[in-house]
Amino acid sequence: TNYLIIMAGGVGTRFWPFSRQSFPKQFHDVLGTGSTLIQQTASRFDGICPQENIFVVTSEDYYAITKEQLPFLSDEQILLEPSRRNTAPCIAYACYKIAKKDPNANIIVAPADHIILKEEEFKARVNVGLDYSKNNDVLVTLGITPTRPDTGYGYIQFEEKADHGVHKVKTFTEKPNLELAEMFLSSGDYVWNGGIFIWSFKSIKNAFTAYLPEIADAFAIAQKHFYTPKEHEALDIAYQRCKAISIDNGVMEKADNVYVVLSDIGWSDLGTWKSVYENSNKDENENVIDGKTMLYKTDNCVVKMPKDKLVVINDLSGYIVAEFNDVLMICKLEDEQKVKQFVADAESHG
Ligand code: GDD
Ligand code: MG
Repeated sequence: TNYLIIMAGGVGTRFWPFSRQSFPKQFHDVLGTGSTLIQQTASRFDGICPQENIFVVTSEDYYAITKEQLPFLSDEQILLEPSRRNTAPCIAYACYKIAKKDPNANIIVAPADHIILKEEEFKARVNVGLDYSKNNDVLVTLGITPTRPDTGYGYIQFEEKADHGVHKVKTFTEKPNLELAEMFLSSGDYVWNGGIFIWSFKSIKNAFTAYLPEIADAFAIAQKHFYTPKEHEALDIAYQRCKAISIDNGVMEKADNVYVVLSDIGWSDLGTWKSVYENSNKDENENVIDGKTMLYKTDNCVVKMPKDKLVVINDLSGYIVAEFNDVLMICKLEDEQKVKQFVADAESHG
């Protein structure tokens, strides 16, 4: 049977103040569609994975909000990490947990904070990956046609010929520098790693054992105590033994059995204000508006305000105006990379 692991432990600070430690973006209705990113993530797997096979990996801090937003999850399906160690330990924990009950599990791993506009196409692509990974010892990922030399993604070079709709990966380069990213983009031979992985437990276990043996070992030991009263303690020990490393750096870059399904699915990693701007509906002056507003001579802005506040703007172009709880930020949209700095400085303000 199929299982889904939703990774939801990230903080998403580039989308501050909307997304922050106490309320990260996966729990927001970022695009104003009526459901949050994590709710959309779970529901796009309808028909692929039964609800009782969905696992969310997050931290204690987000237990209540996860439960509230995905009420069908039992406590066993919400996996709480004792600390943040990036995606490799997060994935190992969930995979070993699932495998304790079903060693033949077929697993899909998805981030909680993406949007995918073409849902039917997405399901079809995932099924191609599932069919292939059920029958072969492979690690499958979805590949997205790149549109800019973004250094925040993994870049995948693949073989021209396909087998059952799946291409063998020649090279996987996680977060290249700008020069390399530009080269990859202009060569036309590369796709972005979509960050959605498909594999059998057996294959990912082989990969952890080969490339991250200390993580494989830590969770093989902890697994003995999963679903027992000692799980908590065993997990603490396992996490103490794990270094912080992403699945991309730790496994995907190193493995020689990586395959890619080329996917035209309306994918976007809503990582930044700009990506939110680009993916949202706009008014006749190219503004993205959430909240009550009176705008005059205002264009190309993102305005996200609490519902109970009326914001009046006169003569503004290309700005983010965003308020959440106790923070109001006004920043040029093109300076969005400064947001990381604001977060750091705001923390030192207390
Ligand atoms: N539970 C848990 N614990 N979740 C985590 C942790 C953790 O320690 N760290 C990150 N996550 C979650 C994030 O919330 C997000 O949903 C997902 O894991 C991916 O982490 P990101 O930090 O967003 O990764 P990225 O965007 O820099 O890079 C990945 O995604 C790109 C596509 O969006 C890589 O897979 C790239 O290769 C890929 O191109
Ligand atoms: Mg991301």
